[in-house]
Amino acid sequence: MSLLIKNGEIVTADSRYSADIFCENETITQIGQNLSAPAGTEVIDAKGKYVFPGFIDPHVHIYLPFMGTFSKDTYVSGSQAALVGGTTTLIEMCCPSRKDDALASFELWMSQAVGKSACDFSFHMGVTKFDAGTPSQLKEIVQRGISSFKIFLAYKGAFGIDDTELYRTLQLARELGVVVTAHCENETLVAERCKELLAAGKTDPGQHHTSRPPAVEAEGVHHLMTFAELTGAAVYIVHLSCKEALDQAVAARQRGVRVGVETLIQYLTLDKTYAERPKFEGAKYVMSPPLRDARNQPVLWAGLRDGLINTVATDHAPFDFKKQKPMGKHDFTKIPNGIPSLEERVNLLYTHGVATGRIDLHTFVAVGSTNVAKQFDLFPQKGTIQLGADADLVVFDPKYRGKISVKTQHMAVDYSAFEGWPLQGRPSVVTVRGQVAARDGKFVGTLGRGRFLNRTPTHY
Ligand code: URP
Ligand code: ZN
Ligand code: ZN
Repeated sequence: MSLLIKNGEIVTADSRYSADIFCENETITQIGQNLSAPAGTEVIDAKGKYVFPGFIDPHVHIYLPFMGTFSKDTYVSGSQAALVGGTTTLIEMCCPSRKDDALASFELWMSQAVGKSACDFSFHMGVTKFDAGTPSQLKEIVQRGISSFKIFLAYKGAFGIDDTELYRTLQLARELGVVVTAHCENETLVAERCKELLAAGKTDPGQHHTSRPPAVEAEGVHHLMTFAELTGAAVYIVHLSCKEALDQAVAARQRGVRVGVETLIQYLTLDKTYAERPKFEGAKYVMSPPLRDARNQPVLWAGLRDGLINTVATDHAPFDFKKQKPMGKHDFTKIPNGIPSLEERVNLLYTHGVATGRIDLHTFVAVGSTNVAKQFDLFPQKGTIQLGADADLVVFDPKYRGKISVKTQHMAVDYSAFEGWPLQGRPSVVTVRGQVAARDGKFVGTLGRGRFLNRTPTHY
């Protein structure tokens, strides 16, 4: 089955021009003017629309056993939500508990996606302990197509690793050419501050920020930077939320540390007052690191514009407001952390970034797709529009106007953190390897067609 997208304005990270795109055998085979369509070709008229490379979310949780419960999406709901929102590739965090072995966990996470996902996918392999058996298992996982690890400097007693484990993980990553993604918060500071707040009777969701202020995150980043500097490993800071943490990453870069920086659409658009909303409403907005003071938002937008911040992810971690967030009704430390946003990342980034003039179209494509593909060894198969690349394309209608609502979302969670927010523009057609998978807010793809993306490490 072939596909022809006609009359669109193609926008990549570094080019913008009008042309037709012809796709066959899952890839882009021709780009040019007035291309013809052989019999049987599906033709899409993209006049007045942009054509972007499929967007890639580098940080999602679909299957996540966490804080005594499980995140709500499956690859059936999650991949549909992703595609409707213009995301054609997911990189999920595989997060074993400390008692589980890496290899068995990798196979478990893989089994959640294979045969169910409608979009392509990969995993960052979580290293939540480092014992005698760990190196051989991680080497085997890298052989099977994984080129990035994930570590947590937070979540003491759950996913968090100690400094010896951190050092050994980075050494191994350096040897294997694997990039290590990291959640950076000082877990001891968090644990002690949580105890103090609870002892003082401060239990509401708004206390979450007090328990982990910017200095806690900046210390986590500084800590990782020191270990990266001494081991020479390539690292990537996930969900960076504030100026103090960014300053640490930039200073380390100047010392020669190889560090990528990710922020989230939530930090760019929401601030800590949301988590302070009364009557437990704030629980919808509890995540880690927490939503910050709004003065950080211009710093993050400028960081994207200037290339200090490389990617925008979601850290999609959906927990129901009615049944799961109330686990922390009387103790904010028990509120399952996460703000669902997989479906809305691209649209919010366009509405609040491009349409407001904070970032240009090329930066939009770069931080939502191209830089992710480059950072995680998927480029140029993914992340751009060129001959031979996978035909993952987003025909985007900048004239669309609508509103976000839980009533129309595909994510399997009972609220939207952005309920009623207006959108300017959305994908009108989304393709995965040449097959139309979403049209105007509706999923029309094939569950189970999504493919595991075999990645080869390059970060030597
Ligand atoms: O609050 C968050 N970020 N939830 C998901 C787990 C993580 O830390 O990435
Ligand atoms: Zn995290
Ligand atoms: Zn996460």
